[in-house]
Amino acid sequence: MSLQPKKVSSSVTIMTELVLPHHTNQLGKLLGGQLMHWIDICAAMSAGRHNQRVCVTASVDRIDFHHPISLGDPVTLMSSVNRVFNTSMEIGVKVFSENYLEGKRVHTNTAYLTFVCVDNEGRPVKAIEAIPDTKDEKRRFADALQRRKTRLKNRNI
Ligand SMILES: CC(C)(COP(=O)(O)OP(=O)(O)OC[C@H]1O[C@@H](n2cnc3c(N)ncnc32)[C@H](O)[C@@H]1OP(=O)(O)O)[C@@H](O)C(=O)NCCC(=O)NCCS
Repeated sequence: MSLQPKKVSSSVTIMTELVLPHHTNQLGKLLGGQLMHWIDICAAMSAGRHNQRVCVTASVDRIDFHHPISLGDPVTLMSSVNRVFNTSMEIGVKVFSENYLEGKRVHTNTAYLTFVCVDNEGRPVKAIEAIPDTKDEKRRFADALQRRKTRLKNRNI
């Protein structure tokens, strides 16, 4: 398996889901757990695509829900590798909801997840380095190091 570094852009994953009745609570708003599931799936695709290996979720940073998302709204998730450490990496996911009847698009959430690259027995293996290119990618790369320090300090075992 080649460990040749790759550009961050090759990990970008865009996923759109339509909020259906079984995704919602009694008020017709998207359930938080459903959104977290989509965030995990989108992030897993970025990690797996970048590494061409199975990558498992090791942790999810705090997620805040600022804007309710309604039944019938499309939800778009965009993820990419922010920074690779050794066997682990931070994946960032941005979530947007859309109301196409009103022509509005709202950035509802940002989430950071840590994925670990594993072998067939589930043991951590070296991940492929991700090279940031754009200004935003470089900012996320720099910020990811501080977030890693904080999450490892707060890690519960
Ligand atoms: C994630 C997992 C592979 C880590 O294995 P481990 O034997 O604990 O490995 P290590 O302690 O050597 O850690 C491996 C890497 O994960 C990182 N890591 C482990 N736990 C972490 C956490 N809670 N938060 C952030 N990073 C974490 C370590 O910092 C290390 O990163 P590095 O190699 O880039 O420095 C293992 O705990 C596991 O399989 N967990 C279950 C995964 C799963 O089922 N996910 C789905 C959730 S339901």
